[in-house]
Parts: sequence; C-alpha cells; structure tokens
Amino acid sequence: MNKKIFVTEPFLPPLKEFNVYLKQIWKNKLITNNGPFHKQLEQELCNYLGVKHISLFANGTIALLVAIKALELTGEVITTPYSFVATVHSIKWNGLEPVFVDIDPKYYNLDPSKIEEAITDKTTAILPVHVYGNPCETKKIKHIAEKYNLKVIYDAAHAFGVKKDGKSILNEGDLSILSFHATKVFNTFEGGAIVSHSAEMKKKIDDLKNFGFQDQITVEGIGINGKMNEVQASMGLLQLKYFEQVIEKRKRITENYREGFKNVKGIRYLADLEDVKYNYAYFPIFINENEYGKSRDDVYNALKKHNIYGRIYFYPLISRFSAYKDLFSSKSANLSMAEKISEDVICLPIYPDLSTDQVNYIISVINDG
Ligand SMILES: Cc1ncc(COP(=O)(O)O)c(C=O)c1O
Repeated sequence: MNKKIFVTEPFLPPLKEFNVYLKQIWKNKLITNNGPFHKQLEQELCNYLGVKHISLFANGTIALLVAIKALELTGEVITTPYSFVATVHSIKWNGLEPVFVDIDPKYYNLDPSKIEEAITDKTTAILPVHVYGNPCETKKIKHIAEKYNLKVIYDAAHAFGVKKDGKSILNEGDLSILSFHATKVFNTFEGGAIVSHSAEMKKKIDDLKNFGFQDQITVEGIGINGKMNEVQASMGLLQLKYFEQVIEKRKRITENYREGFKNVKGIRYLADLEDVKYNYAYFPIFINENEYGKSRDDVYNALKKHNIYGRIYFYPLISRFSAYKDLFSSKSANLSMAEKISEDVICLPIYPDLSTDQVNYIISVINDG
C-alpha cells in the first residue's frame, strides 16, 4: 500500500451539514461567550453522557488546569507517569508537586494498592487517568480518598462515552475532565470539558474559565480564558449525531485486530471487561521481545517501512521528562511496571475510515515481520 496510514485520522461530519451551522453563526453574530450552540451542546452532552453538569472548554489542558484550581488544591497531588504529559503539567502549572505512583499490571492505570504509601501530610488529591478509555478502579480510589480526605480528579481525556455497570464513569470522583482534541473519539477540532456534580461547582468552574468575572465589574479569584467558541460547539453537535456510528466502526476494527493477533506468541492486547461499554479509542499492543523474537522498536520500524505510522504511546514516561526526572517519586524502582509497559507498547492505527483491507494489511506486516 502506498498511502501512508497514520495512527489516527479525525472523524469529520459531512461539510454540507457543517455549513448549515456556519451560516447560522454568521447570522447570530454570537461567536463565543456561551452562545446558543455552546448552551445546546452542554445540554445534549449531559443527556448523552448521563451526567449532571458539564462545562465546555477550549481544550482539555485548560480544563485540567481549571479543575485543579476549582478544588483549591495545595501541596502534593498523586498521579501516574503513564499518560500524556498534560496530566502532570497541569499539576505543576498550578504550583503543586506531582507525586508519581506506579500503574496496575492489568490495565495500566494508577495502581490503587500503591497509593497509600505515597500519601503524606501535604497530599490533597489524586489525579488518575482512564488510560486508553479503560476505567480506573474507582471504588478502591474512592475508599482511599475518603479515608485520607483527598479530592479526586479523573483525567478522562480518553474515556468519552465509556460506561461501567450501565453508568457513565464521568460521574466518579469530584471532577472529570475530557479532551475533544482532533485525535480523540469525539472532537471539536480542539476542545475539552469538565464534568461536575453540583450547580455551585459548575458555576465556580464557568466563572474561572471566564477570567473570574461574576458580572461586568466584579472579578472573583484568578480566572483564565478557557472558553469554547461557537464553531467548536457546532462541530460537537454534529459529532454527537454520528458518535454511535463512529464507535461501531472502531469496534469492528478492534475485533479484526484481536482476531489477527489472537494466536501470535509475544503480542498481547487488552481484554474487555464484561460490565464496561467501551469507546475503542485506541488499540495498543504490547510486544514481549523474548517470546516474539523482535523488540517493540523493531516492530515499530518495520511498520514504518510499510508506510504504517503507529505511535509509541506512552513512551517515554512523563517521569523521564526534564521537568520531572529529578523528583523522588520518578526513580525507576518506584515505577517498574510503568517503565516496562512503556518499553513494550505500540498503539496501532484506529479510526472510523480505516478499511478492513488496511487493518488486514497492518496485521500481515506485523505477523509476517
Ligand atoms: C490523557 C490526556 N490528558 C490530557 C490531554 C490534553 O488534552 P488537550 O489536547 O485537549 O489539551 C490529552 C490529550 O491530548 C490526553 O491524552
């Protein structure tokens, strides 16, 4: 195949349908600051996701920054090194200290059995990530948070639409944040959101994302500009219309990959849990070099030679970046599972328009070496 296959491609609704929204925005002359499409998207997302309150943002990173600010955290925040760097940057940008805890050996989320030993008298919160859309062990995390009086913010950037026992996992913790970046299952070009559970908290978040304005002459707190505009919001309304179709296509690709690798020694993929409704956001595989006979980097480079661009996501660990490498909790001995998984992983291409032929081609390149 000559055409390059990238790890992802954004889903774009028919341009004709987007133009209808654009015409309306031009007519309204309200292009940002809680316009009509912004209001409509917040309402439709609450209904679709099954959550009480949602505040839209310009992107997921500002949503993370504001979530931490809204909870008025101080001191140390426990988090994972196995994530996108924005998770930990958001802690540092708020003037707080990230404390890394290792990941669990099954789904590679923050390991609840290791959290308690990292808690100090400065700890005020836990910031876990539902990595690849696989739900964290929320019950265990809740139990620890209650025992030590800590807040919990879930980075749910990968987990749009994911449910456990029929309920949205976005209802867990004090707050959850979402990313609607172009690479995500649901995109508004760039975008994000905070899910909150009370009208008071939603107001606080909405004020913070609008500089702290209460009215034209009153500013409370140190706000920021995190607002989503009307073009982004209208894109979100269209994405929502097509979302179930998008997930169906991603599910088909996932099943195809699983079938292709099920008897290959040394290549592992994550299994589904029965009580979870997935969004099939990513398809990570994990290469066991001893069993497979080739390293992760060999496989990655072989794919590249065939115009297939996977992503070694997440490598390197956040704890290896210059801003964090000298932290006490960044020591390799503290993060042995995360170190290992980050050396083994490749995320394979997955997006709604990836054809069955392309998926079979990717499988054959890996299986035939
Ligand atoms: C786990 C995680 N957290 C945070 C973000 C930041 O989101 P955004 O790119 O919308 O700022 C991303 C994605 O980019 C992510 O994957």
